[in-house]
Amino acid sequence: STGFDYRAGVLHAEEVPLPTIASAVGTPTYVYCANTIRHRFHQLDQAFHGVPHHIHFAVKANSNLSILSLLRSLGAGVDIVSGGELYRALAAGFHGRDVVFSGVGKTVHEIAQALNAGVQLINIESEAELVTVNAVAERLGVIAPIAIRVNPEVTVDTPHAYIKTGEKGQKFGIPRDDVSRLVACLPDLPNVQLRGLGMHLGSQIGNADPLRDALPRLLSALEQARAAGQPIAFLDVGGGLSVPYEAHETEADIDDYARIVRAAALDTGLTLLLEPGRFLVAEAGVLLTEVLYRKHAAGKDFVVTDAGMNDLIRPALYQAYHAIDPVVITDGAVVADIVGPICESGDFFAKDRAVPDVQAGALLAVRTAGAYGFSMASNYNSRARPAEVLVDGEQFAVVGVRESQEDLVRLERAPLHWRTA
Ligand code: LLP
Repeated sequence: STGFDYRAGVLHAEEVPLPTIASAVGTPTYVYCANTIRHRFHQLDQAFHGVPHHIHFAVKANSNLSILSLLRSLGAGVDIVSGGELYRALAAGFHGRDVVFSGVGKTVHEIAQALNAGVQLINIESEAELVTVNAVAERLGVIAPIAIRVNPEVTVDTPHAYIKTGEKGQKFGIPRDDVSRLVACLPDLPNVQLRGLGMHLGSQIGNADPLRDALPRLLSALEQARAAGQPIAFLDVGGGLSVPYEAHETEADIDDYARIVRAAALDTGLTLLLEPGRFLVAEAGVLLTEVLYRKHAAGKDFVVTDAGMNDLIRPALYQAYHAIDPVVITDGAVVADIVGPICESGDFFAKDRAVPDVQAGALLAVRTAGAYGFSMASNYNSRARPAEVLVDGEQFAVVGVRESQEDLVRLERAPLHWRTA
């Protein structure tokens, strides 16, 4: 279960009725179920039982401190892509050794921040970055533990091109044919130590084929590094596990995924690193929103909600499908566009969707919004970002306070101190 179920016709998050949260906190609000996150973590952890492994949650999927703390308490580490995410991870109680640092554009400042924190691995994505990491480490008088992120250049099938990363010609990783050249540079770079090989194929990957194609390529890169005498300890297979968004979609076969990865990893004797984001948190969240108006125009029906694309951008950015359920079961059906208040025609949650005939004042739950929901929210149209609530059994707590209108202008000021060029 996702933690969201109807009882007596009312959608609950675990034991808490969603209308209770709406009255206490208002809307729009993200609601997360702690037990669903616990369940997903244990499911993945169990699937790799018997293989040395570590699950590094991709912070970008949901960076709320309480979600990070929850995952830390379960034994997770983190995969970060910025100094800001490192700051959050440390604030949530993670140690440097729990952290893997990915990303194609790390700044000198971020690299220094990561080395000072003592991160487990910095994933290298270019030769120029390798040289920079070595220079920063030298300045700080440390040896930087690094991994090479290999681009295995396989064909990846995802619902949208924007979430593929492991194909040829993309900005991510070192093309597999260039790995040996990078390894050959290492003897001249005494302040880095190659500790791992990694990859990340993309997100919401529909089947195991890309993984089957990519693992041998990652292993061949590993052989090259080992042949050069590098002390490799980690094999990082990235994230990308899919979750069902539509009713007809089935859950990802975790055991199948684990079987393929385990088979490849066991012989290497390395510690396996996993970087799931979506899988751990997507289904555990909904965006709770209120219907502001019903509208009929040009032969079409519209349901206008108080949440918009600034709160949840996935439909606008990726034409992503999110199921939308009435919080109180409602009779009648209508085919409508469910749209937000923002001045863009891309501001919709669903198009021509058959939905219950909800009226103004009704609550809706936009499902599967726990990953890449709040973390991608913005202030567009000067809208304060929504509140976030964590539910655990019969209890709920505000874990992200709704922004205020003062917050919107807090960092802005009149140009009192002009500087002369
Ligand atoms: N590791 C690396 C290096 C990544 O770039 C990503 C995601 C992950 C792990 C986690 O992937 P996951 O397990 O969540 O699929 N905003 C998009 C998804 C972008 C994913 C970017 N990288 C969306 O809303 O669908």
